Amino acid sequence: MNAQTQPEFAIETRVVVKTYPSDFGDIQAVDGVSLQVRPGEFVALVGPSGSGKTTMLSILAALLKPTAGEIYLDGQNMHELSENDLVTLRREKIGFTFQANNLVPYLTAVENVELMLRLNDKLDKAGKLRARELLARLGLGERLNNLTGQLSGGQQQRVAIARALIHNPSLVLADEPTASLDTERAYQVVETFAGLIHEQQRAGIMVTHDLRMCEFVDRVLQMRDGKLVKEYTDKASIMKMVRGRAND
Ligand SMILES: Nc1ncnc2c1ncn2[C@@H]1O[C@H](COP(=O)(O)OP(=O)(O)O)[C@@H](O)[C@H]1O
Ligand SMILES: [Mg+2]
Repeated sequence: MNAQTQPEFAIETRVVVKTYPSDFGDIQAVDGVSLQVRPGEFVALVGPSGSGKTTMLSILAALLKPTAGEIYLDGQNMHELSENDLVTLRREKIGFTFQANNLVPYLTAVENVELMLRLNDKLDKAGKLRARELLARLGLGERLNNLTGQLSGGQQQRVAIARALIHNPSLVLADEPTASLDTERAYQVVETFAGLIHEQQRAGIMVTHDLRMCEFVDRVLQMRDGKLVKEYTDKASIMKMVRGRAND
């Protein structure tokens, strides 16, 4: 630990708007979203299909520019960065796993994870060891040297999670990380994911349509029509919502 002051939030957005033009008029996919996530906090973003979750996650990943609003990552206003600096920031400070996991099928599990370190010029002995340990923790200790193209969907999803965490990003984003997992494996993966986020003090945001997965998060943000409409901030209200007894 050093004495440098760290901003309170790893990620903060202020009134973010994203509008897509269409033949039938503009679509307000994200409509004034302000959120903050602290280091070590794991947040779920839920809401019906079309409510703007993926758009919001893409904006947070600096893959999509908002139409309006501001985003701060570790206190840095993303809007003030050049395109090059934004690429560097994304590579160094953000980890993500999207529904299509984008693994390189002809590389092994461990090579896919190491690739993130290589891109950041950080593939040393310690990094290689961490890649193996992380995969083992995600239940893939016996699949390290298998080509990811030959792994099951669920195994690939876990390699993608390891890859999202290996370079010690400030912000970890996951879009439906359990989409291809059976229930038992989904619980295991999200529980491990939550454990790693807490332990390593990352800010984690997970989009999920499976409300049961909210059992492992610290806070739930609910979106509807591009807006944040509800927030569950404590374990008791999250569990009540998970069990379907939220009276809204
Ligand atoms: N590239 C795009 N062009 C036009 N409209 C889009 C685009 N991406 C998403 N949308 C629209 O924006 C809204 C939010 O979509 P999305 O962020 O994918 O929601 P979710 O992930 O919650 O299902 C939807 O109405 C969707 O049709
Ligand atoms: Mg989506």
